[in-house]
Amino acid sequence: MKFLIINGPNLNMLGIREPEIYGSETYDDLVRCITDAAVSRRLDFEIFQSNHEGVIVDKIQEAYGKFDGIIINPAAYTHTSVAILDALKAVSIPTVEVHISDVNEREEFRRISYVSLIAVKTIAGHGFAGYVLAMDELMEYLEK
Ligand code: DQA
Repeated sequence: MKFLIINGPNLNMLGIREPEIYGSETYDDLVRCITDAAVSRRLDFEIFQSNHEGVIVDKIQEAYGKFDGIIINPAAYTHTSVAILDALKAVSIPTVEVHISDVNEREEFRRISYVSLIAVKTIAGHGFAGYVLAMDELMEYLEK
């Protein structure tokens, strides 16, 4: 199985940005956590981060025919981006949505997620472990 893991804007600032919400571990720590989990599950994978909506749309389009599953933390674009939702719909690749923080316990605007309309599952509030949970969800979904 081949998974594409996409991280949206400001996730490259993990460790610096709002540590009381996102913790003190860095983006490199997140990449290590995802890599260790993917390697131990014998998954093929690519990890990608961008601060730009159109670049994320391009990456999703390029995934067509190349990846079996997508794990995406669209970050702030979760709450605004019809373009990312449409790209995921266009490629029809099973997708699990992840949020490090518990978006339902924060500001009202964070409760809206366009991506959740297409996601097979949304995982929020489990920190970096949410990406590992997402991997297992996606593997189970694809094995069915
Ligand atoms: C986030 C939650 C979003 O509301 C926020 O804009 C982010 C990160 C999370 O992982 O908890 O940038 O997706």
